[in-house]
Amino acid sequence: MFDPDRFVDEAVKDLKEQIKGKALIACSGGVDSTVCAVLANRALGENLYALHVNTGLLRKGESEEVKKLFEQLGIKLYYLDESGRFFEALKGVVDPEEKRKIIGELFIRIFEEFAERHGIEYLIQGTIAPDWIESGDELRETIKSHHNVGGLPENIKLKIVEPLRDLYKDEVRKVAQYLNLPISERQPFPGPGFAIRVVGEVTREKVEIVREACSIVEEEIEKASESGKMERPWQYFAVLIPVKTVGVHGDKRAYGYTIAIRAIDSVDAMSGSFSRVPYDVLDRIATRISNEMGDKVTRVVYDITNKPPATIEWE
Ligand code: XMP
Repeated sequence: MFDPDRFVDEAVKDLKEQIKGKALIACSGGVDSTVCAVLANRALGENLYALHVNTGLLRKGESEEVKKLFEQLGIKLYYLDESGRFFEALKGVVDPEEKRKIIGELFIRIFEEFAERHGIEYLIQGTIAPDWIESGDELRETIKSHHNVGGLPENIKLKIVEPLRDLYKDEVRKVAQYLNLPISERQPFPGPGFAIRVVGEVTREKVEIVREACSIVEEEIEKASESGKMERPWQYFAVLIPVKTVGVHGDKRAYGYTIAIRAIDSVDAMSGSFSRVPYDVLDRIATRISNEMGDKVTRVVYDITNKPPATIEWE
């Protein structure tokens, strides 16, 4: 049986032993990096530098929530808006693995620059077991290179420390609960963010569309789950498909993008089945997306593929 109390003691002790000097941790506000930040804060105190990088690929209001969370935790948070650099680096790139590599690489370069400014030698990462299992080791074929593992460039100047490497998600949640972290039980969000929820080339405009659509999907599914209409899925979000189709907006012809709704039930993200979201909830989501997105989106579709054969994300 997993014992969070023992895990925390040992992790703090290990961090003290491994890290002689200053360490950087990148904070997304998700459960993994937040648990890591709290453990590292206990182990290192002032020698921990918590950093939040706004990539421009995050969910609506996300950076503000991260700032608030760290204020509550009493951990000083550094903030950098680097969205311009991310969009520039992704210009013209369509391949999903290429996107992950570019984003992973840019993250690391930003961390290195920050580390150099502050005399930091170590980088703490919230990698958990499924991340590296799916990123492939000698025995397993690579499915996707999750950015916090496979997307890392080989010539990193920082020493990597991964305190949650052997844990599964439910165990990380137990640690978070044990530590009393004020994180609302957010659904998982991939490191490369909306870059892999815009199929094909990523632009600021497309990210703004999918971010807005995603927030509508989240709001409506959460409302329906809270009122008992449906079980809350493991993950639920929007994907922008760069296929333009004809529609009618007001009394004018419109020519906009396609939004796919993805909602999936799973236990550990390794497999899953598409959620049986009630038709009236889907109807409401589609209507809201059409009304609120103007002529930018002319079609909304629902993804009915299980994992396998599909993956949860579209890229
Ligand atoms: P897939 O799409 O592989 O997703 O079925 C399984 C889980 O992993 C998340 N995911 C990622 N997380 N970087 C991440 O940090 C990534 O590149 C990435 N790709 C997928 C996905 O959201 C799901 O929870």
